[in-house]
Amino acid sequence: MLSSVLSFTPEISAQVSDYCTKKSNDVSPASNELWDWTCNRFEDADKMSSPLQNATMKFLAEFIGARRVLEIGCYTGYSALAWYEATEKNKAEIITLELDPKMIAASRETFNKYNLNDRVKLIEGPAGESLKKLTGQFDLIFVDANKEGYEGYVKHILDHKLLSPGGLIMCDNVFARGMTISTEANPQLPAKVRPYWTENGKALRKFCDFCKDDERVDVVLLPLFDGVTWIKWRENKANFLPLNGQ
Ligand SMILES: C[S@@+](CC[C@H](N)C(=O)[O-])C[C@H]1O[C@@H](n2cnc3c(N)ncnc32)[C@H](O)[C@@H]1O
Repeated sequence: MLSSVLSFTPEISAQVSDYCTKKSNDVSPASNELWDWTCNRFEDADKMSSPLQNATMKFLAEFIGARRVLEIGCYTGYSALAWYEATEKNKAEIITLELDPKMIAASRETFNKYNLNDRVKLIEGPAGESLKKLTGQFDLIFVDANKEGYEGYVKHILDHKLLSPGGLIMCDNVFARGMTISTEANPQLPAKVRPYWTENGKALRKFCDFCKDDERVDVVLLPLFDGVTWIKWRENKANFLPLNGQ
């Protein structure tokens, strides 16, 4: 396949998403309950990760054997619950950052309801400020808050070596519903949210340039969900073999 993205129609995309969810690991009953609760209670529930993302995050956290997780953007705690469940064996510490008082209250409700307080710590306030208080290293860092903040967050994480040597940064919504690639990329995007995602797209285009140009890291931008960037420390600066005869 020469292209990395199949040209699905919106209807087929929905079917593909459904099929992948069904044929991947099931999410836990607690996650399902929290998902329903969030959808019923919040109009902007599309900010929450999807069940397939939940399964993917758990898969990754287990695969990496994460011992410490940092999450930027908590919302109702759906992804924090996934990190918690995935790191049961390692008893990982999970630090999650949230600014909005309404979402702070909602996520505290989640952490109390599912008894997550022994390992999940919520830091209230703007993520840029909360990040400055953090020390030590994290094996998994999930960047999922305000999109114009991504570049500053990742730069801070790298400059202050908050990412462990074998760790992974995962940034969500890097496509900004397609607007990062082009303002023409998503004719289906409703007019009401178009200006918001257009602005996010501009910031994320700059963020993608920053990631690609930073020689400290390896980066892949995956056409997964609403665009996911994975970042890890670059191990080998000379990781290209010479061409024949050179
Ligand atoms: C996309 S939602 C997070 C979803 C959650 N990680 C999940 O997977 O279910 C983004 C969250 O980031 C929060 N947020 C936005 N700007 C922020 C900032 N500057 N600092 C901290 N949190 C912020 C929002 O209030 C919102 O709850």
